[in-house]
Amino acid sequence: MGLAALLADRIRASGPISVAEYMAQALGHPEHGYYMSREPFGLAGDFTTAPEISQVFGELVGLWCAVSWQRMGAPSKVVLAEMGPGRGTLMADLLRAARTLPSFAAALDIHLVETSPALRNRQAQTLAGQPARWVERFDQLPDGPLLLVANELFDALPIRQIQKHGEKWVERMVGLDEAGALAFVPGRRVRRPPLAPAVLAAPDGAIAELCESGRDLAAAIGRRLAASPGAALIIDYGPPESGAGDSLQAMRAHRYHPVLSDPGLADLTAHVDFQSLAEAARRAGAAAHGPVSQGRWLLGMGIEERTVMLMKNASPQQAADLAGRARRLIDPGEMGTLFQVLALTSPSLPAPPGLDP
Ligand SMILES: C[S@@+](CC[C@H](N)C(=O)[O-])C[C@H]1O[C@@H](n2cnc3c(N)ncnc32)[C@H](O)[C@@H]1O
Repeated sequence: MGLAALLADRIRASGPISVAEYMAQALGHPEHGYYMSREPFGLAGDFTTAPEISQVFGELVGLWCAVSWQRMGAPSKVVLAEMGPGRGTLMADLLRAARTLPSFAAALDIHLVETSPALRNRQAQTLAGQPARWVERFDQLPDGPLLLVANELFDALPIRQIQKHGEKWVERMVGLDEAGALAFVPGRRVRRPPLAPAVLAAPDGAIAELCESGRDLAAAIGRRLAASPGAALIIDYGPPESGAGDSLQAMRAHRYHPVLSDPGLADLTAHVDFQSLAEAARRAGAAAHGPVSQGRWLLGMGIEERTVMLMKNASPQQAADLAGRARRLIDPGEMGTLFQVLALTSPSLPAPPGLDP
């Protein structure tokens, strides 16, 4: 039995489920969840992420980590953790760049935070020979100074959707239509939803999204950075300021797919609400910097200079390819403005590289 049929049975037995529960099951069901058994990246998969486009992306994240470590006073040991590491490509590129500063490389206690057994195996292959350890949750990381990186993790965390009906907000649920197929249905009234004023003022019929697990994670990161030195780099897609709108989308083989069709077989993501992540981390005692657009951050970190350096040792065709890949990451029409970069740091640290005001 596939996941759609399992969910339909559950809904028939005990009623509609929230959009967050639908998303959690579609991505993380132990047997049928999208990330649990497959490797969805690249041309043969469903989508391509920045580290898979250019090695320069992970190298510049490595440079960011090295500078942040120096600003923390160059502790002799620092936990370097990546959350949601996919194929392990970003971490491999980061570590290659880190080796150019041997004292930094020697200080690293490498951890990967990953829920998917299949992707853990893939990461272990990519990082063969590296002294890396795996945990399932952020709160399982060892104590001490921390450098944390998360690229396209938060967009995979389940969101609730609520819809405005006149002056009321109502939970959007996943139920069944008359033919027994999964369909959106209205649920209970939600009193005083924690939304930004601009979202609360949205017109009748508007949909708003709440990512409670994302906010909880940002708060947990913030508490840790308030208690011990550290910096976290969050890169993801979404607008820089909170807004209303239905951003839930499914991708299969690089094309949009209906959100409620084939749960577990298509990727499901939603825009990241950077403003609410920054607020949650600040309330927990950390400093938040940005977000700034990915294009601006990469340019500030030196993507052009690094790409030109790589092009010098490349054939004309390889050089054109390198330049094209860098453009894809920074151009406003591609990933340059759709993606944002948010940094969270211990409050005593200065603004991190690429995020200076
Ligand atoms: C879209 S992929 C991003 C992969 C990688 N960061 C990249 O840029 O190529 C999302 C990753 O997050 C992992 N993931 C999803 N939910 C997670 C969670 N709650 N905790 C840790 N990892 C999670 C997935 O298994 C996958 O590795």
